[in-house]
Order: sequence, then C-alpha cells, then structure tokens
Amino acid sequence: MSSPSHIPRPGPNGASTPAVHKVTVPGLRARKLAGAKIAALTAYDAISASIVDAAGVDVVLVGDSLANTTLGYENTLPVTLDEMIVAVRSVRRALRRALLVADMPFGSYQVSEEEALRNAVRFVKSGAEAVKLEGGAQRAPLIRALVANGIPVMAHIGLTPQSVHTMGGYKVQGRIDEEAERLHNDARALEKAGAFSTVLEGIPAPLAARITAEMETPTIGIGAGESCDGQILVFADLLGLVEGRTPKFVRRYASLRETAVEAVSQYAEDVRRGVFPAAKESYGVPRAEATGR
Ligand code: KIV
Repeated sequence: MSSPSHIPRPGPNGASTPAVHKVTVPGLRARKLAGAKIAALTAYDAISASIVDAAGVDVVLVGDSLANTTLGYENTLPVTLDEMIVAVRSVRRALRRALLVADMPFGSYQVSEEEALRNAVRFVKSGAEAVKLEGGAQRAPLIRALVANGIPVMAHIGLTPQSVHTMGGYKVQGRIDEEAERLHNDARALEKAGAFSTVLEGIPAPLAARITAEMETPTIGIGAGESCDGQILVFADLLGLVEGRTPKFVRRYASLRETAVEAVSQYAEDVRRGVFPAAKESYGVPRAEATGR
C-alpha cells in the first residue's frame, strides 16, 4: 500500500536520507515488554542533541533543567515557556532517531487546563513528540485531556524539582511508608490517565522496583535505582561540564569542563604570545592581485 498523503515523503528530487530506526511512543512500550532498557538524556540545543542522537540515546528530554544547567538560573522555576520553545526548536533541527520530549516549565500547566493544552500544542508545533509534566494523581485529569487531544504525556513523580519549596529542598521522597504508598498510587493513577511513561526521580530503589514491576508502561529512573525500565541523566552532569559536586546518583563519564578550560586557556595564551593565527590559519591574496597584474 502506498503511504497516505499526510505521511512525509522524500523531497521532490527523490533524495532521501539514510534510514534510521526512529524511536516512537508505542516503541517505548514495546521495549518494556521485550525487557530492553531505555537510555534517556537531556539536551538543550542542536550541538548537544546531535551528540546525544549520534550516541544512540533513545529519548531526548528538553528538560527544564535548561534553567540551571545552561541559562544560569538558580533552579528550574524561572525558565519560561518561550525559552523552552527555543530549546525544543533547536534540538528538533538536530535530532533524527531519538524521541523528543519537551518538559512543561513551571507555570505553563498549573493555571488552567485550557492554558496547559495551548502550551503543550506550542511544544508539538515546535517539534516535540511528547510533553513531560511533574506531579502526582492531581495531574490525572490534565493528562487525560492532553492524551485525548493527541499529545503523548510522560509523567514525573518523586523528587519533583518544580516543588522544591513544598519539599523544603531536594530531598529523597518515599522513604516513609505513607509517602511510598502515595507514590505508588500516583504512578497507577497517571498510567491509568494515559501517561505513556513515568519518570521516577529521587526515590528509594526498592520502591522504584515495586512500581516498575507493577506498571505496563516504562518507568525512567533518575536516582531511583537499577530496576527502572530506563535511566535518564542531565547532559552536563554526565559529561562533567558543571563545576562542583553533583548528586549521588550521577555517574560522570567524562570531565569535559577541565578539558574545555585547558583548551580555551591555551588559545588565550597563543593569542597573547602572537602565535595564533599562524600562516596556515590565514588567507593570502591571489598572486595577480598581489602583484597588481
Ligand atoms: O529537567 C530535567 O532535566 C528533568 C530530569 C528528569 C532529568 O526533568
């Protein structure tokens, strides 16, 4: 059967890009069934997205951690919808294989369902394939509305950074039985409302294991132990681009900040010593012009 007219086809000159095995929302569910782990990572611009995609990561989250890792805000609360939209657009331009999930920033989904829908639609029009939002069972009606309007939703429970003031800091959640029970119920309610996946952040590993075993949709852990169906980290943490201490759950796979500072210092020194640029890094003029002939 030929593809329906709303399915994109190769360009008019017949040129097509090499096939990629695109990660999709239903595909993630299938991975859980197959017992295949999901690798997720944040990205905030075309450079980080192209690195993450080239490395074969399955899910790219344009996280509201853009606020504190890239824009210099103290926490995730100040980042605006417009700032997030710029990030989603630039990630979209670089991403080919991974699923692109956009994080709804604080204030973009709390005021009313109508406003949340409008804002989620902006993300989809900017290239997001799904949105993520923080909160427990109280978000179920909104998730239902988004899903009913064709917008896949990733839920996010446990240590939810947008509730930093309510939590009184970035504290592990679900350590006492009552809290653990509430998180369990939240996960069930959000899945029932239609969330295709749930981020479990900063909760004890045994609790995350129990929730994961019970759910049909994949859980993505961050500081939630090894039993989750997938894991997510923040780009700058994984690469060691940030100064100072990182949370216990981070594994640094490189120390790029040190490498970058060293490289930039070397450049500055070369400029000051007059050894950059060298002749091979400079343009000459064509011989005829040089001689005036
Ligand atoms: O904004 C973010 O980076 C997140 C995490 C789950 C990684 O929400």
